[in-house]
Amino acid sequence: MRIRLHTKIICLLFLLGSFFAFTVTGHAQADNKELAAKGQYIFALAGGCACHTVPKETENAGGRAFPIPFGTVYSTNITQDKETGLGSWTDQQIHDALVKGIRSDGSRILPVMPYEAYSGMAREDLTALIAYLRTLKPVKKATPQLKSWAPFNRSLGAPLWLKVFGRFSDPPAQAPKSGIERGRYLVEHVSLCSDCHTPRNFIGVPNRSLYLAGANKKIGPLGQEVPNITPDKETGIGEWKREEIAAVLLTGTKPDLDNIQGLMAEVIEHGFKNMTKEDALAIADYLKSVPAIKNKTE
Ligand code: HEC
Repeated sequence: MRIRLHTKIICLLFLLGSFFAFTVTGHAQADNKELAAKGQYIFALAGGCACHTVPKETENAGGRAFPIPFGTVYSTNITQDKETGLGSWTDQQIHDALVKGIRSDGSRILPVMPYEAYSGMAREDLTALIAYLRTLKPVKKATPQLKSWAPFNRSLGAPLWLKVFGRFSDPPAQAPKSGIERGRYLVEHVSLCSDCHTPRNFIGVPNRSLYLAGANKKIGPLGQEVPNITPDKETGIGEWKREEIAAVLLTGTKPDLDNIQGLMAEVIEHGFKNMTKEDALAIADYLKSVPAIKNKTE
């Protein structure tokens, strides 16, 4: 009798336990889904990390060539493939690659990858972004080796470059939610408008005195002209209304009805077009608040 009672209690406890475990895992799965959905939005704000897709090829599998002063470097596979992508990396390792430029094997990522800018991303946004990256279907595609005519050692070169020119940021405790502060946060640390629209010198150092003032074809990324997006009326976008700036980000159509081309078209297609109107307007308001700089890029 006593044994029976014990068995009953044990069974009951077991049932309760499984029910509890089931609800907890159920909750954890729901939380993860929510986090990944938030991360998908951060991914869109980040232009869909479009540099990691060769136009018209498999998305996020890397292999796109980027010229550097002493050769060519290739963007990497960011899918969940265990061998050629991020599948076997821990969350912390992906985090360190995103904000410190350090790979899972300890080697250095060249500062072509904008980890300095991402270092100012709020932890909550990074965590969500990493949760989303975890959902990317594995694609097996090895990244080509760095091609260089110089005897270059990335584990010596990258830290040295960063020591001299690097500009890491302290992330905010929380991502700003609205207004000009939100706009600045996105322009500098998530959507990286400043990364493409601020000219760089011949060794890739951004010229802060021309913040957002664009670059001509000779020095623009991938040999493309990037327009001046400061409020200068003549050479920038000072005449554009805030709604018109937002519309470019969401639709790729300019106020003169011309279509945006090149790298900008890619970041719009892979991501910006899915940002909310509020975020697009916050970016527009921030752009209207920065100093106007006269700089002709044509
Ligand atoms: C990957 C590089 C890249 C990123 C990131 C980027 N842009 Fe651009 N942007 C370009 C290029 C290249 C063009 C020129 C497109 C063309 O010629 O049609 C351009 C064009 C524009 C134009 C049109 C200006 C004009 O006078 O025609 C605006 C406005 C603009 N970008 C705003 C932004 C904003 C705001 C962001 C961030 C949310 C951003 N861009 C992020 C590369 C980039």
